[in-house]
Amino acid sequence: MQLSTLDSRTTEDRPEPSLVSPLPILTDIAVVGLGYVGLPLSLQFARSGVNVLGLDVDADKVNALNEGRSYIKHVATETVADQVKANRLEATTDFARVDEVDAVIICVPTPLNKNREPDISFILQTGRAIAPHLRKGTLVVLESTTYPGTTDEDLRATLEAGSGLKAGEDFHLAFSPEREDPANPDSKVGEVPKLVGGLTPACLEKAVRLYSRAIKTVVPVSSCRVAEAAKLLENIFRSVNIALVNELKLVYASMGIDIWEVIAAAKTKPFGFMPFYPGPGLGGHCIPIDPFYLTWKAREFEHSTRFIELAGEINTSMPDYVVHRVAEALNNSGKAIKGSRILILGLAYKPNVDDERESPSYRLLEKLKQRGAIVAYHDPHVPVIRPTREHPHWTGTKSVPWTRPTISGFDLVLIATAHASVNYRELADWAQCIVDTRNVMAGVQIASAKVWKA
Ligand SMILES: NC(=O)c1ccc[n+]([C@@H]2O[C@H](COP(=O)([O-])OP(=O)(O)OC[C@H]3O[C@@H](n4cnc5c(N)ncnc54)[C@H](O)[C@@H]3O)[C@@H](O)[C@H]2O)c1
Repeated sequence: MQLSTLDSRTTEDRPEPSLVSPLPILTDIAVVGLGYVGLPLSLQFARSGVNVLGLDVDADKVNALNEGRSYIKHVATETVADQVKANRLEATTDFARVDEVDAVIICVPTPLNKNREPDISFILQTGRAIAPHLRKGTLVVLESTTYPGTTDEDLRATLEAGSGLKAGEDFHLAFSPEREDPANPDSKVGEVPKLVGGLTPACLEKAVRLYSRAIKTVVPVSSCRVAEAAKLLENIFRSVNIALVNELKLVYASMGIDIWEVIAAAKTKPFGFMPFYPGPGLGGHCIPIDPFYLTWKAREFEHSTRFIELAGEINTSMPDYVVHRVAEALNNSGKAIKGSRILILGLAYKPNVDDERESPSYRLLEKLKQRGAIVAYHDPHVPVIRPTREHPHWTGTKSVPWTRPTISGFDLVLIATAHASVNYRELADWAQCIVDTRNVMAGVQIASAKVWKA
């Protein structure tokens, strides 16, 4: 086990941590919520020799896993099949089976509600479902991103009420934030250091032992709240820095300066600078949402989170800027948005994934349609739009085929996501006009009048 602590001492200098007292090895765990976070985590534990019981309310996912099939594009079916065949991974919708395991890890969604306030109802539902089946000594770890206090107040109260057991005495409770970066080959679940905070020292000890079975570096912190707050800091840091380059993009564009060239130049500085890149708006299940978990909680302590609000405001306004650039590009050819055929290239919120939750592409589709454009999308990873709560009216819409007649039939192609599998050389040859929000056309030889950066 490699224990990383937050002090600056090397492993050799440090006294052997008290965490490594002889405790039984945890061999059976349940992972609740088998989505983008829960499935890769389950597989990592299974590969490490832990028996994993996957729990989900979605019977389709449960059936797929038991048949050895993956339903996430960047998780290979063979990886799932190997663990199912080895009897290391089984899935169920039966929460009563929590009484078979030593630890339960919760990876359920934490969205915002209609008023953009935290919705921890999935966590509390899970708490209510597992509480009656907790045994003395079971460890419960929350991984879902949330505001400080969720684990030791909300989840704790739900588990205690439903089980009649006391957290920290009868069962263990901890928080360990997920740091999943889907489709990033350099981000392997077992290699990314894992923060862990426990309700008591004994809770921490047990949680560190659990994760050390599957994760190379486990970083203990002093409480669940520190671990919850650290995850929010990581995501707020991204949101604020993306907003900064989005704002600079507009300022520099007015000065005739290309933000992409500026960032490439600045990042040659070997210290004190980290590049962030502009785009058509924030997407995904984390960066547009998580910062507002803190905003909401901060109000209870009479604080306003001005940086977070400002970053949200700037990032949210980006699709309007992109639409403005689309209007300029069309206008240049004597066309209006109204009646023009516009193709959004890339529906997923980031390159090379099939996840289009919270994608700014939806906002671009809506805004252009409202202005009278005839809109369509192409995304090699999203052949058809699945039903979603947020965009029900796009359900069933299909990605248009990637052929010269189809692509050249659009008045304008708007690049929203830079998927690596798209042939941008062909796009340069086929498209009438391109608006590029990702700078992907920079390396492609093309008439400059045809490409508009946005
Ligand atoms: N996706 C990411 O890249 C990422 C990265 C870091 C953190 N997170 C955080 O991890 C958490 C999970 O995110 P995700 O992307 O895996 O979500 P997801 O929607 O992909 O998966 C959630 C799963 O939970 C299941 N579920 C919902 N309610 C349930 C319930 N009551 N009981 C059991 N299962 C239930 C759903 O059916 C789904 O399979 C969120 O808090 C998110 O903010 C996500």
